[in-house]
Amino acid sequence: MKRRQFLKNTISTTIGTGIASSALANLSLSHHITNIDSKDIDARSNLEQEGLLNFVAIGDWGRNGADHQLQVAKQMGDWVTNHPNDFIVSTGDNFYPSGVISEHDPLWHYSFENVYTDFALQWDWYPILGNHDYKSDPDAQVRYTKISRRWKMPARYYSKTFNLKGKGKVLIAFIDTNPMIPEFYKNSEYGPHVAGQYPEKQLEWLDKLLSTQDPNIKWKIVVGHHPIYTVGPRTNNYDTLAVRKVLEVVLQKNKVDVYLSGHDHSLQHIKVENMNFHQFVSGSGSEATPVKAGLEITKFAASDYGFMYFAIDDKCISAKVINHQGIKLYDTTIHK
Ligand SMILES: [Fe+2]
Repeated sequence: MKRRQFLKNTISTTIGTGIASSALANLSLSHHITNIDSKDIDARSNLEQEGLLNFVAIGDWGRNGADHQLQVAKQMGDWVTNHPNDFIVSTGDNFYPSGVISEHDPLWHYSFENVYTDFALQWDWYPILGNHDYKSDPDAQVRYTKISRRWKMPARYYSKTFNLKGKGKVLIAFIDTNPMIPEFYKNSEYGPHVAGQYPEKQLEWLDKLLSTQDPNIKWKIVVGHHPIYTVGPRTNNYDTLAVRKVLEVVLQKNKVDVYLSGHDHSLQHIKVENMNFHQFVSGSGSEATPVKAGLEITKFAASDYGFMYFAIDDKCISAKVINHQGIKLYDTTIHK
């Protein structure tokens, strides 16, 4: 071999070996990281079993940490650290006072990323839009899905089915109640953002989705910002009545089990006698507003800051209410 060829081969081999060694080092590092991840997952899988599917629900929260938002976030983090949890539902009014102007709005950091920091809250979030989110650009919250791994809002309304570990499925419709309120179209803040939304199209989509005959669907849940019934300040408000007028018939016809909302800043469980569905309100992720006492439809109502925890299996749904001090205020079970 000529000297020039020898040198060329030697240099290639040396470089090749260098790349190979560094690749091996990287592989070894990746392997190490994978082991740490597995231990994390193992640690969570050792938590005492609640349901086959578990989630927390929080609403009406984004106040830059103010008015008990930080305290509720801390308790929610503690709860999901110590209980199995698959995802987090936000029932809307994600950003006060007026939504976000873009997917780069600093409020994402002040009111979301830097508030819900607990490791156990890094799982998937399924949010919907509230009326305050409609005061700026509601689609910015859809676009944030492409920036954040955990924020999952593929559209203004969407649906997802979740597995009950081989014992069937849960269908959840995440809807947008804002365009269902006729008064919003004349409002200077909401009007430009509800324009072109065609609520009848969404209701048709919802009806078709919920009318599924799939025998694997054990539970149907609908999440919307505005309550159909509430014992908070908005019992007979124009928005409650408007949403009830168009939604109740769809839920009743399709035998929906649970309607989960926010909007009134309290924690409620309501059951109207001649309706199949149970209504829950989880709307006090920061501010708390009063609830009325002594109404017949009330199973539970608290004017307190907090969140809800749902544990679902194929035969029952358990719902718990936890406040900003970590105190369990209410615990109930719905059977099929
Ligand atoms: Fe609201």
